[in-house]
Amino acid sequence: MDGMPDENMSDPLTREAIAEYLGGCLFLPERYSFFPSLDSTNTWAARMAAEGAPEGSVVVADGQTLGRGRLGRVWESPPGVNLYFSMILRPRVLPQYSAQMTLITGLALAEAVRGLGVQGVEIKWPNDLLLDGGKLAGILTEMAGEVGKVHYVVVGVGVNVNGEPESYSMEIQPLARSLRGHLQKTVKRAPLLADFLLRFAGWYDRYLREGFAPIREAWVRDSGICGKQVRVNLMEDTFSGEAVDMDREGFLLVRCPGEHQLRRVIAGDIRLL
Ligand code: BTN
Repeated sequence: MDGMPDENMSDPLTREAIAEYLGGCLFLPERYSFFPSLDSTNTWAARMAAEGAPEGSVVVADGQTLGRGRLGRVWESPPGVNLYFSMILRPRVLPQYSAQMTLITGLALAEAVRGLGVQGVEIKWPNDLLLDGGKLAGILTEMAGEVGKVHYVVVGVGVNVNGEPESYSMEIQPLARSLRGHLQKTVKRAPLLADFLLRFAGWYDRYLREGFAPIREAWVRDSGICGKQVRVNLMEDTFSGEAVDMDREGFLLVRCPGEHQLRRVIAGDIRLL
């Protein structure tokens, strides 16, 4: 297979491979589903959630044929080398707070990556992990609900673990970074996935008990974005300024030149300048 390191041949992501790591956390092994190939783990997980799958269900695929990114983009998902998975959550929060799941995920993912000895990983609001000036991972959070109530949230995560540049299209190659490229060695996917799930479960539990404040504090500390100049693309507007902080609800606060009031960005495409 193109760009697939030999060592990965013995790197299964099956339930059996992961069960030994998951010690009774939210993500019980019986809620873990592995597929050699799916169109998109987010699409599959949303279908399962609509049919009543419990919180803590995880859908993992070795490769995706129709991996989706934010804003209708494609998430290239070559088989056998990377992580593609989606978690089903049912937080009792207002729908507008479901974006906080993205921030919890970024925090736990950055911790898990640092746990491999990777220096310099940065969380870019709201859904990217950056490494060596490129994209290491992306998060796609989708929600179903009604006014005042979340039915379910699906958080999908793609991590470029061992994908070699030639595994991706010419368009993506200059932007994508991988753990293998950074560490110069193949990284086992199952322990990394399990470590992330355990860390996420810990933060999520804390979120349910204490609210968003501890997440915000850790995120502001960990993120590389505060203090940086950014360009914000919203559907209806585009502007540049300094990302100064994250507010109590998880929105990014941007100071634009000449403006007295900070702009509060709820969801948007951010480019570091
Ligand atoms: C982004 O950066 O735009 C988000 C990318 C999210 C990709 C993951 S891979 C697993 C899950 N299934 C999908 O179709 N997308 C997410």
